[in-house]
Amino acid sequence: MDDFQLLIQFHINAERQGPGGERETLQAMELAGLDRSKKLKIADIGCGTGASTLVLAENLNADITAIDLFPEFLEVLKSRLRKRELESQVTPRALSMEELPFDPEELDVIWSEGAIYNMGFERGVQKWRPFLKKGGILAVSEITWLTAARPPEIEEHWKREYPEIARVSEKIKVLEDAGYKPLGYFPLPTSCWIANYYSPIEDRFESFLKGQNNSEQAIQIVDGEKKEIELYKKYHDHYSYGFYIGQKL
Ligand SMILES: C[S@@+](CC[C@H](N)C(=O)[O-])C[C@H]1O[C@@H](n2cnc3c(N)ncnc32)[C@H](O)[C@@H]1O
Repeated sequence: MDDFQLLIQFHINAERQGPGGERETLQAMELAGLDRSKKLKIADIGCGTGASTLVLAENLNADITAIDLFPEFLEVLKSRLRKRELESQVTPRALSMEELPFDPEELDVIWSEGAIYNMGFERGVQKWRPFLKKGGILAVSEITWLTAARPPEIEEHWKREYPEIARVSEKIKVLEDAGYKPLGYFPLPTSCWIANYYSPIEDRFESFLKGQNNSEQAIQIVDGEKKEIELYKKYHDHYSYGFYIGQKL
């Protein structure tokens, strides 16, 4: 099994594949001014098994295209949609976020939780903008520094993992420069990381390793996750995901 397949196996049975939470998705919807009075055409990009897709579908009158690179995640999303009788509102599509299947100005909303980093925040907000209607909403979460100065250990870690990590003011400037009016920002609280994401990951370590016969590859994945969790627990005052809501000018 290649590394990607193994990572998919590790994450596939989780409620979500990155930090976030239902309450925070609802908070972002509120800041974006989304309501049920109008049918909305939405893309949820990098949806994974659909943590945010389900909240959007349950709370809006929407026609949602849920996009992820990995069909395995979308199969789980399909079964979650079936259980909630939400299939008619969501079309899962296995595609790259680099090649969105929309016409210019087709979308009312672009939603993306913990995924835009895959193409880079700046490139993502620029490349996705043409698909939004004028006045359309972009709502994305993105790893963000919360402090002006950081201990070298965490600074170096994130610069290595994702050099585009930056402070809130810098991320908002990127949005403004790309032609969005910032409507709101809030940082994800620690519950989004620990209770909603890392604790369930920790609970899966043992069964995952057992299922993979303690292979070297599986041990490496678990060690990598453990290191990330340890860093978060030590340095969570310094970074989080920021939720950014912008409106296309
Ligand atoms: C950190 S996870 C977040 C998933 C989900 N939004 C959530 O909050 O649970 C990032 C997601 O982006 C997807 N992804 C990675 N590269 C992608 C690409 N080029 N195009 C589309 N999706 C991609 C991954 O498969 C994964 O599901």
